[in-house]
Amino acid sequence: MPLITIDPDKCNHDGLCAQACPVYLIRMEKGALPEAIDRAKELCIRCGHCVAVCPTGALSNSLMPTEDFLPVPENRPGADEVEALLLSRRSVRGFRKEPIPREQLERLIEVARRAPTASNSQNVSWVMIQDPAKLERVKELTAGWMTTVDRLKRYAEGLERGRDMVLRGGTALAMAYAPEAYLWGVADSAIALTYMELMASGMGLGACWGGLVTSACGQVPELAELMGIPEEYKACGALMLGLPKQKHLLIPPRNPARVKWL
Ligand SMILES: Cc1cc2nc3c(=O)[nH]c(=O)nc-3n(C[C@H](O)[C@H](O)[C@H](O)COP(=O)(O)O)c2cc1C
Ligand code: SF4
Repeated sequence: MPLITIDPDKCNHDGLCAQACPVYLIRMEKGALPEAIDRAKELCIRCGHCVAVCPTGALSNSLMPTEDFLPVPENRPGADEVEALLLSRRSVRGFRKEPIPREQLERLIEVARRAPTASNSQNVSWVMIQDPAKLERVKELTAGWMTTVDRLKRYAEGLERGRDMVLRGGTALAMAYAPEAYLWGVADSAIALTYMELMASGMGLGACWGGLVTSACGQVPELAELMGIPEEYKACGALMLGLPKQKHLLIPPRNPARVKWL
């Protein structure tokens, strides 16, 4: 089966599919129907843009069944709403004891998996820890590693006095990991975690980046093992999650942007 099939009765020859393909797999001669170039099937990155931009539904892609595409919601937020969400997001470091319902965590992952990835490689995998005993062990192992790093020793000691710098009392930990050999693992994970953090904020959940636990994961084999991260993969970033105890009433100032306009 060819990569793309065009319904000649629906195609309006606008060429939008050819323009949209990021890897130039679709050509369109004047007056002819769009067609895929040689080896298109092996070169296709399955981004779905060819199907998504066709206004008449004339194009189907044999690697991506059309029924798997979702309609774009009509109630997309405008710039003001998006800006309000982005600016009011804060790192939350105080959580209630009740766990986040499983469906809400699943919703977060569903959004995060749709974040952009380099060449649509979708190489990010997830560990979601909710088991209190496992979270406690993550904290212990991370704290153990912190005692070996001069600038972190003070915080590791604070843990013994109940100051949880590692998980901040979060009732869930989402860890993103990717193949060690994959160049964009950290970038893709950071974007996906940012999607997750913003979605959490929109859902009234609290989230905070877990840099310490991510660093520890790369240094403490038992921690990576506890999370089930395979050997040829690396921990790329984490979020502590929970029902927030805090509510931030103001948006703190940040440095002016340093920009060169050329
Ligand atoms: C780290 C990263 C690097 C990317 N680099 C490029 C790039 O150099 N050129 C480009 O056209 N798209 C680039 N993309 C966009 C991806 O190809 C795109 O996100 C992916 O195909 C999924 O499509 P979507 O963003 O429409 O969901 C990049 C994306 C990421 C996350
Ligand atoms: S799915 Fe993306 S890469 Fe594949 S043919 Fe369509 S536009 Fe091109």
